[in-house]
Amino acid sequence: MVSDRLLDVLPRTAETVDGRLTVGGVALADVAQEFGTPAFVADEQGLRATAREYLQAFTSRHADTDVHFASKALPCAPLTSILAEEGLGCDVASAGELAIALAAGFDPEHILLHGNAKSDRDIGDALEAGVGIIVVDGPDDVDRIERLATDRQRVLLRVNPAVAGVTHAAMDTGSPEAKFGVALDDAPALLDRIGASNRCELLGLHVHIGSQLLDLDGFGRAAEAIGRLGLFGVYDLGGGLGIAYRPGEAAPSVDDYAQATVDALYTHLDPAAALIVEPGRSVVGRSMVTLYEVVTVKRGARTHVAVNGGMGDNLEPMLYGQRFAPAIVDRDRPLETCELVGHHCESGDVLVPGAVLATPEVGDLLVMPVTGAYCYSLQNNYNGARRPPVVLCSGGDARLVVRRETISDLLARDVR
Ligand code: LLP
Repeated sequence: MVSDRLLDVLPRTAETVDGRLTVGGVALADVAQEFGTPAFVADEQGLRATAREYLQAFTSRHADTDVHFASKALPCAPLTSILAEEGLGCDVASAGELAIALAAGFDPEHILLHGNAKSDRDIGDALEAGVGIIVVDGPDDVDRIERLATDRQRVLLRVNPAVAGVTHAAMDTGSPEAKFGVALDDAPALLDRIGASNRCELLGLHVHIGSQLLDLDGFGRAAEAIGRLGLFGVYDLGGGLGIAYRPGEAAPSVDDYAQATVDALYTHLDPAAALIVEPGRSVVGRSMVTLYEVVTVKRGARTHVAVNGGMGDNLEPMLYGQRFAPAIVDRDRPLETCELVGHHCESGDVLVPGAVLATPEVGDLLVMPVTGAYCYSLQNNYNGARRPPVVLCSGGDARLVVRRETISDLLARDVR
């Protein structure tokens, strides 16, 4: 039985009904039975509610705000189509993410293209689709737009504000050493060049200082830094709101984030400007869980509990030291501290060190909360692992929206 505290990090619709843990009105044990494990399970109402919460939090404070979902967090058209229906825009970082966003039904006008190394293909496809904005990351982007565009393209300039995001080093993008954007000192010359271009229409500036930010002060400092470049009609203050991965973990709310960014705009920039934000993790993180089956349990100096997934479907613990709070589903047994490990041939394939689980047994179903962000997108086939399906649950129905990868899929690109 999962504790009430765990409900804080499970999808919004999660509840225990007759001793069975459910999401979207469907028992997780039934999802596992029907679709197998490992599997991603998404909460449709949770996604809708978070999208609405975002729009309300921002537009109530600053009517001229566009909320663009950073699709790198979950580039899965059957799920992001729900966000498009709710009125969010989309931020993409390549021709591939652009194609996924278009398949999800986002209006091209409401799509924004990023990337520190955009290829001709990335920019060409974006121009052809008619995306609303291209975020220029440096002079080479301007060259490409001038070479490929047949009309004027609206652009923002991404500036590195030299304000480090307070987060894991691999998720800080605002430090002076970061590869993204142009330095504050180099911005005026490039702004002049963009302003003089007959293929670029300069709207304003963009900053993004990092991801999984639990401290919101950086938004004000970044706005203050770019405020020195003059006033513009549009400011994109990026994404980055951090979320709780474990019960009791403190994270700012969407309202706190909206307040911090709107304050940053009003205090350091221009209250009359349009605001864009690009949240990824905080839109989708909590609305998906991963279901695994316990494959082996070894009790020795430590208890190693191995499941039928791991670093192939969740790289967050290995890359960023992210701590998750897994639970055995629908079992009420004494608690035991275990190393929750994956099935990959790699010592670092540890999903949760020191996990506290209900005395796991082979065959148990295990739920890993908060896997909606950057797990689906960072999947891989190490050891021939087949990427899990995505099952969307809502109103008591479970629907397969991405099928499980097959062995044939693993061989499909080989040229014989
Ligand atoms: N905008 C830009 C320009 C970004 O680079 C990112 C994330 C976002 C928005 C969305 O940030 P979010 O709201 O999701 O924090 N691979 C890491 C995360 C890297 C984030 C990269 N950029 C992970 O798996 O945790």
